[in-house]
Amino acid sequence: MWLGGLTPATWLAWRFVTGRLGANPIEEILHRLGGTALIFLLATLSVTPIRSLTGWNSIIQVRRTLGLFSFFYLTMHFLVYAILDQTLDWEFIIEDLTERRYIIVGFTGWVLLIPLAVTSTKKWIRKLGKRWQRLHRLVYISTALGVAHFYWQVKADTYWPLVATAVLVALMLFRFQIWINRRPLDPGSKQLKQSVNSPKDL
Ligand code: HEM
Repeated sequence: MWLGGLTPATWLAWRFVTGRLGANPIEEILHRLGGTALIFLLATLSVTPIRSLTGWNSIIQVRRTLGLFSFFYLTMHFLVYAILDQTLDWEFIIEDLTERRYIIVGFTGWVLLIPLAVTSTKKWIRKLGKRWQRLHRLVYISTALGVAHFYWQVKADTYWPLVATAVLVALMLFRFQIWINRRPLDPGSKQLKQSVNSPKDL
């Protein structure tokens, strides 16, 4: 997981130091970090469907790491935007954060993930109990905002934003079906109460 999670960052850093990021390295870094974060977010949301479809229960152990990697890449994405792209010019940043639709939704998506990253530890899972599960549903809203942000920032070719939308819709439909069938699969649910308390599953 760590190898897979850090490979995109290492690859980007390597291209940066060897000057292989093209004519606009900052834009390239920003785009690669945003794309990687979105892939990790969608991968995080895929864990429960994969587990339900295949019965591969131990896959749940990678969910938290996937989620934390998506937060790591998003935070880097935001920092590259604020520090390298906008050179910490707060007047411009605040103007973007209040006036540009795709920045507003992207920023909201990132902010919503902060409490999830903070409460991702076993201590917080035990402390919040059922409320942890409810709080962590914010990841759906955050991913939807990320996809909208992706769609709105492209200038012409909407192919990849539409692919991301289709993946998210499919994952949400799957969740909806689980809800309809009343087959709770998350930590905090009765079915998995035992595994919540087992450090192996967190
Ligand atoms: C859930 C949160 C977010 C996700 C999933 C996300 C994802 C993405 C993706 C996928 C791209 C396009 C990458 C590509 O074309 O290959 C992108 C571009 C971009 N994102 Fe984000 N992002 C998020 C939050 C943010 C935040 C918080 C900011 C800054 C406040 C931001 C600023 C930008 C900028 C400036 C671009 C490039 C736009 C352009 O080229 O004009 N994003 N983001």
